[in-house]
Amino acid sequence: MTFKNNLILIGFRGTGKSTLSTECSQHLGWQRISTDENVVKRLGISIADFVAANGWAEFRRVEHEEIRALQGISNAVIDCGGGVVENPENMSFLGELGTLVWIDADIEDVLSRLLQNESDPNRPLLSAHSQSLREDIITNYTRRRPMYEQYAKYRINTSINDISTCVANLCSLVR
Ligand code: S3P
Repeated sequence: MTFKNNLILIGFRGTGKSTLSTECSQHLGWQRISTDENVVKRLGISIADFVAANGWAEFRRVEHEEIRALQGISNAVIDCGGGVVENPENMSFLGELGTLVWIDADIEDVLSRLLQNESDPNRPLLSAHSQSLREDIITNYTRRRPMYEQYAKYRINTSINDISTCVANLCSLVR
């Protein structure tokens, strides 16, 4: 059996992936990689500006390249953008690369976290026809839940557990 020494966090926006990836990487002494941060570094502009100019399909193509660039990485906690599950090729690649964990949170928590930060330049509306950010969140949160469930081996709910419990549970998956 191959020991997969990467911890890969997937899940919707606002569920706590970046907090948990930061904490877990410190705890494990592993590097932290954020696919969103890598995409922004590569593009040199915010995700919102890039999507406004080029559309979501082009963003997904760049995101896919960043995922493929992780080939050969080890001892990393990888924090993936919420839409990584939209491309099944991303998910078969990541499934080979490490232990996939769904970071989940209740819709009320996701809404309150995201609506507080409505102008986040890395989180433009996902659906062109959405009437509001609230509607956009609810529609895509609901649509994606079965996708996260399908790909992840484990699920951690940040609405139920405090951060230190989530970190301990996550780290125990790879030790
Ligand atoms: C996206 C989530 C964002 C970012 C981009 C697309 C999505 O990442 O990749 O705005 O499709 O849900 P976070 O989940 O880190 O906010």
